[in-house]
Amino acid sequence: MPIARDLSAKSIFSDRISDVPKSFIREILKVAVDPSVISFAGGLPNRKLFPVAEIKQAANRVLDEYGRDVLQYSNTEGFPELRKYISRRYREKQNLQIPVDNILITNGSQQGLDLLGKVLLNQMDEAVIEEPGYLGAIQAFSVYRASFQPVPVSEEGMEIARLQAVMSQGAPKLIYTVPNFQNPSGISYSDANRLAVADLVRNTSTLLIEDDPYGDLQFEGVKKTSFKKLIPENTILLGSFSKTVVPSFRLGWIAAPDQILEKLVIAKQAADLHTNNFAQYVIFRYIKDNDFNGHISKIVAVYRNQRNAMIESLRQYFPPEIKYTKPEGGMFLWVTLPRQMSSMKLFEIAIKDKVAFVPGHPFYVNKKEVNTLRLNFSCVDEETIRIGINRLGQAIKQLLTA
Ligand SMILES: Cc1ncc(COP(=O)(O)O)c(C=O)c1O
Repeated sequence: MPIARDLSAKSIFSDRISDVPKSFIREILKVAVDPSVISFAGGLPNRKLFPVAEIKQAANRVLDEYGRDVLQYSNTEGFPELRKYISRRYREKQNLQIPVDNILITNGSQQGLDLLGKVLLNQMDEAVIEEPGYLGAIQAFSVYRASFQPVPVSEEGMEIARLQAVMSQGAPKLIYTVPNFQNPSGISYSDANRLAVADLVRNTSTLLIEDDPYGDLQFEGVKKTSFKKLIPENTILLGSFSKTVVPSFRLGWIAAPDQILEKLVIAKQAADLHTNNFAQYVIFRYIKDNDFNGHISKIVAVYRNQRNAMIESLRQYFPPEIKYTKPEGGMFLWVTLPRQMSSMKLFEIAIKDKVAFVPGHPFYVNKKEVNTLRLNFSCVDEETIRIGINRLGQAIKQLLTA
């Protein structure tokens, strides 16, 4: 007789996975699928901007030209032409010298985070995380049982005094940053702030992860200096095609110093041998045959208008004591309610009024009740943004008078 196993028993699962919570955002998105709900909760690129016809043409060309070769197993580091292209683009756009050999193609930058956790983190190793920080990084590093050291971020960037205090207690293993148009807050680090962070990290053993999926989605202002330029030996740069082409291909990359890349390649071999070879060829063909920068400009124009509509509506419909960030790019902005107001309570009222957002608490590693929330502006058209922010403003006024 086979012995029935109780799969709910904690002992079956590794310690590594037992304490990692389910993504709260996925739970929220289930509520927001009702078509009558205006949702600012998602974190998705706008599907209307996906270059379907061009990708179809690229896929056909790849199959016609490379047939069986492209359908075979391939090397772990990734399609050499695509890696060369990424290296060239860094040189041309940011004057960054990143040799092709230092680039590893990953299954989205999310896999980059997982591989970095696997390669760098022992249990209870210290990882500095932005507060608020990207949920996917919190989840990825939680699997490797990191000890998180939150450092607040504002519209200037990281709080330097706090980072300094953390660094003075002994170099943390890593610092995770999204310095351009951060998820969830939309903030960007100023150049002065980047220099101050770099000064604290330079000549230490701490590695700084610069996660940059939104850098190309810049609506205004000048491009800020990459940490890869300021502290190249300490910086691991992550990139992605999810926000500039399509997320479904799951194509991203890591640019890392030699010794780290070597270990990442081993970890990736163990995980999945290599990233989908066909997808790598198709995206490369798509970029070669089309005006990629022109496509990014189209995305930027649409998101900029939607950001403008959201900021104007916030000004018009929110009580004046409500604060919000004014992102210069990306897909999100961050709202701070009066101190005593819970964004979860607001969510409960708002969802009845058919408008959704993500309450702030999942973006903190140690807070349950917060007065902050994330709004996404990439997926909702301007008119709908106005209606939705009006509804949300009404819900806030209701809570303020309650
Ligand atoms: C800051 C940040 N890093 C990484 C990712 C994951 O992106 P990818 O689709 O490349 O895995 C996201 C996705 O939203 C993100 O916001």
